[in-house]
Amino acid sequence: KVYRASTTAPVNIAVVKYWGKRDAKLNLPTNSSLSVTLSQSDLRTLTTASCSSTYTGDDSLLLNGEPSDVSGARTQACFRELRVRRAALEAANAALPKLSTFPLKIVSENNFPTAAGLASSAAGFAALVQAIANLYELPDSPSELSLIARQGSGSACRSLFGGYVAWRMGEKEDGSDSKADLVAPASHWPSMRALILVVSASKKGVSSTSGMQQTVATSGLFQQRISTVVPANMALMEDAIKNRNFPQFAEVTMRDSNSFHATCADTYPPIFYMNDVSKAAIRAVEAINAQAGKTVAAYTFDAGPNCVVYYQEEDAATVLGAFAPLLATAEGWKDGSVVNASVKLD
Ligand code: DP6
Repeated sequence: KVYRASTTAPVNIAVVKYWGKRDAKLNLPTNSSLSVTLSQSDLRTLTTASCSSTYTGDDSLLLNGEPSDVSGARTQACFRELRVRRAALEAANAALPKLSTFPLKIVSENNFPTAAGLASSAAGFAALVQAIANLYELPDSPSELSLIARQGSGSACRSLFGGYVAWRMGEKEDGSDSKADLVAPASHWPSMRALILVVSASKKGVSSTSGMQQTVATSGLFQQRISTVVPANMALMEDAIKNRNFPQFAEVTMRDSNSFHATCADTYPPIFYMNDVSKAAIRAVEAINAQAGKTVAAYTFDAGPNCVVYYQEEDAATVLGAFAPLLATAEGWKDGSVVNASVKLD
């Protein structure tokens, strides 16, 4: 008999960024962060986990049709934690099949090109953890599962929920309080939209894992970011979301992105993620807001040149219209099926 379970997990884009680890092994962050979850009809990872006593060999992972290495410490940590929880259920109930002892086969697919640089590791590890948790029939809440997904990739802990999600950094050395929780569901702010501007679909530059470690080790500005800037931004952001205050949401989003990229520039040697098209996108958002006489759009950039613009549905014509020339400059997704998407939230 083959036991099987499938699930999907969404992409999330942080509006208060995670950048810095205080424990690289457990993936514990130097600051809390907060993200917005994008619609799964546009961007998601679909993962099926199966196991059987008839499977032979080691655990395996097929990612977008290609065999992928599972021997890395992060994937191993996720498998181990999930097996421990399943084994506890089996120990308590002798009637349960011993799934924890069977090899796992994981099959995972993104509905967007990995090369688009859109936080695929976040959706990937979240879907992997949720699929195995479903297979093992674990009773754990999304918040508890976020503790496991975090060990796969930090940002993945925020992809176990929809809507507006906070990752609380926690204080404990064992990481047991470093997990995600729901700030508000997407339905709380139905007019929110995200425009994804794929400036470059090629994957190059410094990975976030190594970039943030270089920043922690060498940037003086970073100390100020984690001690004062981020705590203030977290409080302001939660307040903006609670009150559906778009100008406040937008200002904190843009300031936090700028602060994060400033610490990258202050890293020695410096790290630059934004290119000239990225900077043109910032200018375009500034021009849109100046023209509108109020804040109707907000930009944010992760560890790459691609831009995400948040806006509200009522301002769609203004924002998308102003972006039309830049949309032509940007590369779009390489597979040609989707060029620069405007997406809803889930
Ligand atoms: C800039 O979660 O990819 O997107 O924990 O090393 O896997 P690891 O890092 P990762 O870093 C994401 C960094 C970011 C900001 C964010 O998503 O909060």
